[in-house]
Amino acid sequence: MNLKTSWKNQLWPLRVLRIWLGVTWIYAGWDKASDPGFLTSGSPTFIGTQLSAYATSSPVGFAINKMLEHSTQIGIFVMLSEFAIGAATLLWIAPTWAALGGFAMSLSLWLASSWHVKPYFLASDSAYTILWLSYFLFLYGSRRKSNIALDRRGFLRVSTVAAIAIAGAEVGKLFPKSSAAAVATGANSTVKKIVKDAAFKVGATQTFVSKAGTPAILFRTKTGVFAYSAVCTHEGCTVQFNSASKHLQCGCHGAVFDPFSGAKVLAGPANAPLAKIKIATEGAWIVEA
Ligand code: FES
Repeated sequence: MNLKTSWKNQLWPLRVLRIWLGVTWIYAGWDKASDPGFLTSGSPTFIGTQLSAYATSSPVGFAINKMLEHSTQIGIFVMLSEFAIGAATLLWIAPTWAALGGFAMSLSLWLASSWHVKPYFLASDSAYTILWLSYFLFLYGSRRKSNIALDRRGFLRVSTVAAIAIAGAEVGKLFPKSSAAAVATGANSTVKKIVKDAAFKVGATQTFVSKAGTPAILFRTKTGVFAYSAVCTHEGCTVQFNSASKHLQCGCHGAVFDPFSGAKVLAGPANAPLAKIKIATEGAWIVEA
């Protein structure tokens, strides 16, 4: 079935669904391609930082933690897949596979980032999971019409989708969003209690989840309290404090940071120090300001 016939043969409800899903997925790819921070380690919108935040609360956090060392590759894969799924859906190229991909991607996002949203219907990932599943089941039920032949023409059509995905990712870089727009607008003016001041002695450390949802670590020395993000500025793995060496170490590729000297890089592939987190004392509590 060619493109024109595919639109003509579809009922209006399916056309609306197809347009919405296809356009949304292309937009999702564009949103990442035009975000200069998405593939830049250390940026607040870096894919590794996002995955690290997901890992702190997701029911599949253990799996996300294992993927963190490949954050950049995962980010590229997700961005290209979004362009490809959206284009394939609109252009009727392997549409059943595209719908299956859309379903798998939405389900993964639901599990990773919005599983704990209550009530569940406030998380758009759950709605997209069901929309893609419904569309996939419809196409699968009529798959004789939507199958793609594994011949030269089929190869060309799939290559077209791949070319669109790569072109979308490249063109997106030419229209970067301003950094202000790219940074998540999660500015939260409320303070977050970390630990009771009296219970946190000199020399102690305390891990916590920051207001941004990412892992962090608090220190107290004779000179005061301070905290850093525990998200490695290389690919986003979580760093751990080594009490013997007094360093923060990343198990993924071996970066080492000095928490007592601005979390500067001592070794490994990271180029930037760990992000500092604002800390204050409020009443009996040490808080993230
Ligand atoms: S993620 Fe590569 S060294 Fe930390």
